[in-house]
Amino acid sequence: MLNKSKASYGVDAPRVIRNLFIAGAIAVILPFFLPVIKAGNISINITWLPWTGAYLFLGGIFMLFYSLFGKFKHRDRMLNMISWKGNEQVLDIGTGKGLLMIGAAKKLITGKSTGIDIWNAEDLSGNNMKNALLNAEIEGVKNKVEIKNENAMHMSFADNSFDIILSNLCLHNIYNKEGRYSACKEISRVLKKGGSGIIADFRHTKEYKSNFNQLGLQTTLCPANYFTTFYFPLLRILVLKKL
Ligand SMILES: C[S@@+](CC[C@H](N)C(=O)[O-])C[C@H]1O[C@@H](n2cnc3c(N)ncnc32)[C@H](O)[C@@H]1O
Repeated sequence: MLNKSKASYGVDAPRVIRNLFIAGAIAVILPFFLPVIKAGNISINITWLPWTGAYLFLGGIFMLFYSLFGKFKHRDRMLNMISWKGNEQVLDIGTGKGLLMIGAAKKLITGKSTGIDIWNAEDLSGNNMKNALLNAEIEGVKNKVEIKNENAMHMSFADNSFDIILSNLCLHNIYNKEGRYSACKEISRVLKKGGSGIIADFRHTKEYKSNFNQLGLQTTLCPANYFTTFYFPLLRILVLKKL
């Protein structure tokens, strides 16, 4: 028996959003009580601080807007970049609560959509395998998905396993260049010849492009859509082709 009727794909970077709102509120309120800060002979006028507070608040609102509305348009934009046949083997790297894995599964007839993740709690609210599976069940695609606990940098899949590889907002969470290169190398390895990749992120996209070119893949970097990914800064999409 399902205890939920609607899938929930979570709030991205919830702690960052919380911190933007807290810092924004402090910056707006503080100057009303303490317009000038004195340290010895030095006085600092902070009556301008509410503008910084408003900027931080707006950042939090934009990020929340992306999580609640924009990411579904962004998912559709990514999935619409593929001419689906229905028999594809799909891999979603850093699937979280299954946004792309489930979106892809809905395009499949005989194919399978696999999601992998290491389930970082700070990257997405309610981030765990159980919630991804629950979403797949609610969305009616449980029989077309498989979810695994795997790191993008070391995948267990055989070479040339997937027709389509998807990934949204995952690879920047690997904090060193070597690690991100390993993830790109793994993506190139497990992608079939003739297969496509759609990789979206808010930074390092030029680095990924250069990595994939070095690994022999064809790449096209697409600009962000200003109306869907108000995610500071915007999300760019890298399209890969393994010839
Ligand atoms: C911001 S969330 C995005 C989730 C999902 N792609 C979406 O768009 O809703 C980033 C995800 O990447 C995962 N992640 C981070 N580093 C990873 C790694 N090295 N390998 C696999 N997944 C990773 C996190 O656990 C998290 O679920």
